[in-house]
Amino acid sequence: SLAGAREALARLVRDVPDYPEPGVVFKDITPLLADHTGLAAVVAGLAHAGRDEAGRPVVDVVVGMEARGFILGAPVALALGAGFVPVRKAGKLPRETHAVSYDLEYGSATLEMHTDAVGAGSRVLLVDDVLATGGTARATVDLVERCGAEVVGVAVLMDLAFLPWREALGDVAVTTLMSVG
Ligand code: PRP
Repeated sequence: SLAGAREALARLVRDVPDYPEPGVVFKDITPLLADHTGLAAVVAGLAHAGRDEAGRPVVDVVVGMEARGFILGAPVALALGAGFVPVRKAGKLPRETHAVSYDLEYGSATLEMHTDAVGAGSRVLLVDDVLATGGTARATVDLVERCGAEVVGVAVLMDLAFLPWREALGDVAVTTLMSVG
């Protein structure tokens, strides 16, 4: 249930003050991942975003973003009877890729996906741990759309409510299990 997922997040995500730099409170999900009941609850909660009202899966592929989106996305894909596709930082994938760059506070980042990873017309759910600026999710939406596929939604454990991820994602449907801040 969504309530079970939210309870697990409230109980098992650890706040780490001043990491990775002073003034930032890092949300450490490793205690949640290490807890079988908690992990199962959040995977089920994320998979909910890929089902219709009757509980039937409506996605063909789950795309997860490096690195924590890999851990969460693969079990969500299995729960939905879907395959899993990784979106990686630049230079990690071995074959032909689509690439999208986006601005960071200082500099820029590039994400890549194999050009043949998602078929045209496929219905895709994006899975990651956190939405902050939304830059990672926005770039991933663009990568999926380059393949001619359709983004059904983005599902994350947490969103940072004080950052502009909603604006970055336009009209893309977002499921977030916990708002922070
Ligand atoms: C974090 C997080 C998301 C992204 C969210 O990943 O896991 O993928 O940042 O931030 P945004 O909404 O501002 O794009 P990070 O870049 O730290 O990569 P990592 O998991 O490989 O360490």
